[in-house]
Amino acid sequence: MDNKDSIKDIWTIIQDETKRRVEAEPVLASFFHTTVLEHNSFSSAVADLIANDLGSSSVQPMMLRSVIKDAINSSDEILEGTIDDLLAAKEKDPSCKYLSEPLLFFKGFKSLQSHRVASWLWANERHTLAHYFQSRTSEVYGVDIHPAAKLGKGIMIDHGTGVVIGETSVVEDNVSIFQGVTLGGTGKDTGDRHPKVREGVLLSAASTVLGNVEIGRNAKIAAGSVVLEDVREGTTVAGVPAKEVGQEQGTIPADEIDHSIK
Ligand SMILES: CC(C)(COP(=O)(O)OP(=O)(O)OC[C@H]1O[C@@H](n2cnc3c(N)ncnc32)[C@H](O)[C@@H]1OP(=O)(O)O)[C@@H](O)C(=O)NCCC(=O)NCCS
Repeated sequence: MDNKDSIKDIWTIIQDETKRRVEAEPVLASFFHTTVLEHNSFSSAVADLIANDLGSSSVQPMMLRSVIKDAINSSDEILEGTIDDLLAAKEKDPSCKYLSEPLLFFKGFKSLQSHRVASWLWANERHTLAHYFQSRTSEVYGVDIHPAAKLGKGIMIDHGTGVVIGETSVVEDNVSIFQGVTLGGTGKDTGDRHPKVREGVLLSAASTVLGNVEIGRNAKIAAGSVVLEDVREGTTVAGVPAKEVGQEQGTIPADEIDHSIK
């Protein structure tokens, strides 16, 4: 199955789920129609949703919608990233029962899609509009990602609130990020001063990673830790300042999240 087929399949599933939601919750019928059912494609629904959320009294959603569509149409990369983020949320978040949920309700997912547009604007030297997206995303979703930060695909930002990702940060594919995570500078350096987070890493709630440090593949950062040094691949670090407390047995921490109440 190629990408176009899988996007079509995902869109059909989202539409079917949303139709059932209208029957189950008539109070939200108009919301479901304007966000999903009136659209003829997944990308149109994403563009509309983000534009409506990020519009303001002085910037009409219609203007933003056209910018978001330009970004999505510029290459396949943005939509592929969006699809991978959607699947990551569905597969990794045990509270996510339906593919339509991240699109309709999850701040983390929506903030990532806004960042993909801001990042495209930044690369095309439209820094002012990129900052508008960053600032409104921070206000509306509680997630503040500098447009120059480089984020991969299949990323899950769970809950979203209070996540901050600085200008020269790199977050590779398949990383899971919880609320309150900071990827920041120490305040002592300029230039390339933010963390580099490799594939498969889990950044637990309220963990703070400071400086141009490398978090190796499949590492785990425990909740509330303050990381000031490189973290070796496949290790768990915890505490303030964070110290190595364990090693992975060949698992991918970003995939192995289960907060369900058993
Ligand atoms: C890091 C974490 C994922 C556990 O990883 P793990 O590899 O299974 O680690 P363990 O539970 O075996 O703990 C290893 C050691 O680190 C300690 N440790 C674990 N998490 C810690 C934390 N957040 N702060 C300080 N110490 C911690 C443990 O007490 C243990 O110490 P011990 O060996 O002296 O007993 C987990 O502790 C964590 O932080 N989860 C947070 C997930 C999250 O963000 N949830 C938000 C949902 S809304």
